[in-house]
Amino acid sequence: DWRMAGHRGALIVLEGADRAGKSTQARRLVEALRNQGYQAEGMRFPERTTEIGRLVGSYLEKKSNIEDHTVHLLFSANRWEHVPLIKEKLKSGITLVVDRYAFSGVAFTSSKENFSLHWCKQPDVGLPKPDLVVFLNITPEEASKRGDYGTERYETSDFQKKVQKRYAELMDDKSLNWKVVDAAQSMEDVHNAIKQLSEAIITEARHQPVGKLWA
Ligand code: TMP
Ligand code: MG
Repeated sequence: DWRMAGHRGALIVLEGADRAGKSTQARRLVEALRNQGYQAEGMRFPERTTEIGRLVGSYLEKKSNIEDHTVHLLFSANRWEHVPLIKEKLKSGITLVVDRYAFSGVAFTSSKENFSLHWCKQPDVGLPKPDLVVFLNITPEEASKRGDYGTERYETSDFQKKVQKRYAELMDDKSLNWKVVDAAQSMEDVHNAIKQLSEAIITEARHQPVGKLWA
């Protein structure tokens, strides 16, 4: 069967503002792909369970303060430490559905004072390049209807508006396969849109080598 061994899996990333529904949609996508007979697994960044991830987690929970450049590099290191695993999974035919990736890294840090998009991208140059980046698009107004922000660092509407602008700049990069999905639709419609994009890219990516991000 064409879904089985011998072909690499696809690297699919979900990005978008807080409360756009990334985590829910990532879970549902993995489930749906498995039901279709694909091998699929979820992954998320930050992955808070490693030593580096614990530093980042405590920073986000405001239990520690870390200098801005330093924490940016830790977020990136948290991705790099997973690269061997990512490559191994893709090679073995597993499609990875990743909840946030380098785009979050750049969008969030570059929303701080005196951080250029250019500087923020550098540590992630050369990471496995996603075959598809789905941007779950939601207006700040729609997002605010979904309840209050949490209490973690960055969870304020002012900061999130800056982050949205930075995402828009990142989406101008046509060397990446960005697909914008309207996240204000019903959960079911959003799911179906993402699933369709994902199945198409799994078929397309299986004979292509994994690329290098921003390289
Ligand atoms: P989460 O809520 O999806 O676990 O993400 C935690 C926060 O970390 C979220 O506000 C986005 C932010 N973030 C960065 O600042 N840099 C990064 O590289 C990543 C992956 C997330
Ligand atoms: Mg969060």
